Parts: sequence; C-alpha cells; structure tokens
Amino acid sequence: MKPFYITTAIHYVNDLPHIGHMYENVVADVIARHRRRMGDDVWFLTGTDEHGQKIERSAAREGISPIELADRVVAHHRALWASLNISYDDFIRTTEARHRLGVYELIRRIQERNPGDIYLGEHTGWYCSNEETFVPDSQVVDGRDENNHPVERTNERNYFFRLSRYGPILLDFYRANPSFVRPATRFNEVISFVQSGLKDLSVSRTAISWGIPFPGDPDHVVYVWMDALTNYISALGFGSGDHARFDRYWPADIHLIGKDIIRFHAVYWPAFLMAAGLQPPKSVVGHGWWLRDNQKISKSTGNIVRPTNIIDQFGADPFRYFVLRDMVFGQDSNYSDESFLSRYNSDLANDLGNTLSRAIKMSDSYFGGKTPPTPCHSNDLRKTAEEIVPEYLASMEQLAFHRALDSIWKLLNQVNGYIVAHEPWKRFKESGADDQLSRILWNTLEALRLVFVMTAPFMPDKSHAALERLGADPGAIDAAALAWGALPNGAAVRVTDPLFPRIDAAQYVAAITTEVRSLMNDKPVAENASPEASTAAAGMAPDQGTAAPPHSGPPAETTQAMPPDATRVSIEHFFEIDLRVAEVRAAENVPKSKKLIKLTLWTGDAERTVVAGIASKYKPEELIGRKVVIVANLQPAKLMGIESNGMVLAASIDGEASLLAVDPAVPAGTKVK
Ligand code: ME8
Ligand code: MG
Repeated sequence: MKPFYITTAIHYVNDLPHIGHMYENVVADVIARHRRRMGDDVWFLTGTDEHGQKIERSAAREGISPIELADRVVAHHRALWASLNISYDDFIRTTEARHRLGVYELIRRIQERNPGDIYLGEHTGWYCSNEETFVPDSQVVDGRDENNHPVERTNERNYFFRLSRYGPILLDFYRANPSFVRPATRFNEVISFVQSGLKDLSVSRTAISWGIPFPGDPDHVVYVWMDALTNYISALGFGSGDHARFDRYWPADIHLIGKDIIRFHAVYWPAFLMAAGLQPPKSVVGHGWWLRDNQKISKSTGNIVRPTNIIDQFGADPFRYFVLRDMVFGQDSNYSDESFLSRYNSDLANDLGNTLSRAIKMSDSYFGGKTPPTPCHSNDLRKTAEEIVPEYLASMEQLAFHRALDSIWKLLNQVNGYIVAHEPWKRFKESGADDQLSRILWNTLEALRLVFVMTAPFMPDKSHAALERLGADPGAIDAAALAWGALPNGAAVRVTDPLFPRIDAAQYVAAITTEVRSLMNDKPVAENASPEASTAAAGMAPDQGTAAPPHSGPPAETTQAMPPDATRVSIEHFFEIDLRVAEVRAAENVPKSKKLIKLTLWTGDAERTVVAGIASKYKPEELIGRKVVIVANLQPAKLMGIESNGMVLAASIDGEASLLAVDPAVPAGTKVK
C-alpha cells in the first residue's frame, strides 16, 4: 500500500475551535477517508499548539497554569473532533515529551550538519503575540499590524536561524516542485516573498518561559513556530528512538493549513528541514478563510462562529456537507445561517433524502421489501454514472470538493429524471412487478448506491445508513464499489424515517440560539441570537425550504442611510466618552428590584460598583467572570439607594437587555473605541 500522510495545522489552545478550525479538520478527514478507501495506507495527524506568549497570557488572566488551560481546552478539542467524526490516527500535543525530543533532535541535526545556521544575535523589532511573530516596521501603524493586532517593541538577544542563506535553495526547490504550494496563486505569493530577500529568523525567546527550553541555553525557549512546525515529524517518532513511522510516512503528502500561515509552512519549515538534512514535505495546501460579514472569523475580532449547536442538533454530516459544498476550495466564503438552512433543506432533505426514500418505497412495495430480482447492465443511467464517477474522482484528486459534490448531484438529478420518465407506479398498475419494472427500479437503486458511495467520505454516517437501506453492503465504499453493478438482487431494503428530516426556520433559530457553554470558564452563557439568526427568523416563513434573500425588505439606500448631519457627532466628541472593558467580579440582585443587578467590576486597576438593569435576562451567578463594556466616566447616580459608577452597555429588545459580547481574551481596563 502506498503511504499517504496528511496533517492539519495544530490549533492554539487559548480558545475553542471555531468554524475555521472545524472546516480544516473536516477537509483533512474527507481527504483521509477518500485515500483510505482508494487503498492508500493513510496516516492522519491533528493536534494542538500549546506553547507561547498567547497561551501563557490567557492562562495568567484565568489565574491558572498554562498546562491546566491547555488540558481543559484539549478535552474540548477531542470531544469536538469525535462529534464531527474526524478519523485522525494520532493527536499530538506540543507539551508531550515525544514532541520535545523531536524539537531537540531537529535543532541538534541543524547544529551538527550546518554549524553556522544557528547563532546567537541581537534583535529589536515589533512583536505580535497574537500571531507569535515579528512584524516588519513597514507593516506597523499606530502600534498595530496589518491584521489590526497590537504589536510590542521587543529587544532580545536571541538564537537566530540563518534563513538568509536559504533563499536560492528554496527557489530551486520550488522550481523542481511546481505544485509544492496549492492553490497556485498562493505559491506565487510565496515565491515573490522569497525573491524579495529573506532575513535571518530569531528562533528563541527569553521573555517567555512557557515553551521548550533551548538546547544548551535554558534561559531561552524555542520560538513557538519552530516548536510547532516540528510536530509533523515528532508525532512520527522523530527524535524518540523508534523511527519506523517516520521512515514510512515522511515526507508528508499534504500539510493542510489556512492561507494565513502558508509562509511558515512553505518557507521556514522546508528551510529548517533542509538545514537538518531532512526532506521537505511534498505539498502545502492553503484553504481559504471563513468570513462573517466579510471579515475573517477570529478570536481577535470577536466575530466567532462556533456551530457546535448545529452539530448537536442536526448531526455532523449536514455540517460537513455544508462547509465542503459552500466553500470553493482555496477561496474565502461567508458563513450564513440562511445558506446552511437552505442547503440542508434543498440539497439534503429534498434532493438526496427524498429521492432515496421514494426509490426504496417503490422497491419495498412492488418487490416485497426487497431489491428487484433482475439487474440491468445496459441503460442510460449506467452511461451517465460511468461518466460522472471519473469526473468525481478527478475533482477529489484536485481537492475541488465543491465540484466533486456537484458531480454527485448531477447523477442524483439524472436519477430523478429517470424516475419521472419511466413512471414506475404507472407501470406497476398496468402490468405488475414484471421484468421491465424490475430493471427500472434496480437501475434507480444502483445509481443511488453509487451516489452514496461517492458521498461516503463527506457524510460517513448518513452514507452508511443509506447504503444499508438500499440493501447494499454499507461497508463497501472502496474503488471497486464505484463500478456499476454491485447492488444485490433480492436483498432486504429498509423503509424508515427520512434520512434528513426537514428543518423549519423556527426550529433552526431555536437550535442555534440555545445556551452554549463558554469555552474558557466552562460556565453556561446565553449566546445571543446572531444578526443572521434574527434575519433568518424575520425573513423566513416557517417550513419554507429555501430562505428569503437576507435583506429582502428595504432597498439599498435605506439600509445604508446615515442620520442627517446635524445629529452626527465628531470623533472628538465620541472620544470624550471613556468606554472600557471590565470584568464582573461579583454580582447580586438588588433587593426589591426585578430589573437591577449590583455588579462589582474590575477595570484593570480598581474595583467599582455599577448597577445594571439586566436581571430579567441574567442571573447574578452567570455573570461572574464575564467581560462587559462600560461607560467609565459617567456621572455617578443613585439607584435604589446604591451609588452606581458607570453604565454597562447592552442591546435592548422590549426592555430586555442583552450584554455586548467581549472577546474573553481582552484584559479588563482595555479602552474600547
Ligand atoms: O495558526 N477560516 O493556529 P490557529 C479558515 N497554531 N481557517 C481558519 C480560520 C478561518 N476563519 N481561522 C483559523 C495556528 N483558521 C498555529 C498553527 S501549525 C504548525 C501551527 C485556520 O489555532 C488557520 O489558518 O490560529 C490554521 O490553519 C488553523 O485554523 C489553526 O489556527
Ligand atoms: Mg490563527
């Protein structure tokens, strides 16, 4: 068997996975499942990136040790991957001993083979702890980098990696491996980055203690990216004595990552490996970003989409299908609840589910609960299927998943057309369950079998169930099963509930607005209905499959309209209002008041009391630890005898106030503007 090694990025543990991380692992899983069933010997690795300043700080803010934070978040990761049916073979944590040994071995090999490639030097620059990287001066404006993350001036005596030496070597390597980075546009960016000249890279830090001690100099820890990238080989046993797995699977076939970290994988990583005398990976595949409101979904912008409740309510498969169908692989995609709901109802409930149950019901009632007795080997449906399967396989090969799914749906349409054209119900009335009817229905079921063999890597559970209902062998989803003719005659079919029950809009909105668990502190928090959710609620009649256009009502001018000039305020005026992030330290109901809660807020340097009218929605105990935004320079006011020093910002619907969400990573006291 051909070895095939695929990895995802290892995810930071300062937060729970969001849709971007979920997407990445689902894509890797689809590739892994497909390669396995095509006969490869697959090794699929995922894991967590646990060192560095970001995690050190998040843990400090929580008042716990970094490893406690990591353990807690890793448990969530594993549970999520289980619920999404991610079939990884190994899960690596960078805090594991086997990983540390791999990092030591990589550095040792570099020092041994190319002694001048790691040297001690001085470095001053802007450091972004969010991305764990130095940012060139040219990209820093007002203390922020291109992604609007804060940067800090950092001066350190560090170990450096002589990356500058690797420019020409990398360019040669790229020329010899024209599909090293996919998609090609990303490769061009990498090439011009390298052509513009590489600077040496600092590969140790002294300001951080949460990391792997630098070999021979424990005042330093290994730079988190050098640490993190090494996971791909440490997980194979590199540096741990038993190299069998490393020898079998390295170099990796695919490092699947998001487009924001291509440089680390396509420039630094191959250079480290070459310096150590190891082979670079075979390919780096950069997927696009999930956006919300055209902004990258990320913890630092706070516009997180974490569709765990969609998965809980509707299962993993609809979500897996949705993300792969909705995103053109390699490009960005805007997440919206409307498109999830509409794809679910039209593609899954209607096209896939209904066609299946219709066909099975006919076979069940005309042929006594069995697949028809006569097969049929020469017909139009077979011809179409035999055109579509290779087309599908080619798309899978090119990682064009949306196209692969399109091909499947093309066959599904043909099946529907075939049923309509042959009207089996009419034929049954006219001449009973004769040979011809048998052939027609057998064709129909056989084409559907192929459909579900093709959907298997995308929707493993539903495909398995569908194959079982069809009377096919649910375990047979390999290359041979993609050929026409495998459906047995006279096998039992199963008529049962819909494979994808329709979801009405109200049910959907209820599902996505149920309480979710806050990731960091494990306390339940009420997740407010997202703007999309309320649009969905307002814009759709219940049980109407396809969504109304998101902004059906008002014309563009109205939605864009600004208040007349006279009512606008100047920016100076706005800046007079001191908005700050504060953390709730204590909360209690104000006696004799139904609405008021007395809050003790920490603003980074002091505590203050603020009385807020939020009791109809929140219980005091669920507010503890939560970050809120306050007007910090408001005149004090007495409410029910308590002096309130400030005001908590909330959105109010019919008098019920919903607190504004603040990214839990933002420290108390931070100015909001
Ligand atoms: O970057 N859409 O970890 P991470 C799509 N620890 N993909 C997204 C995304 C979005 N909105 N946001 C993040 C790290 N990702 C490092 C990796 S690898 C040796 C170290 C992707 O938790 C992102 O591009 O910030 C990356 O591939 C993965 O999720 C983990 O991101
Ligand atoms: Mg990131």
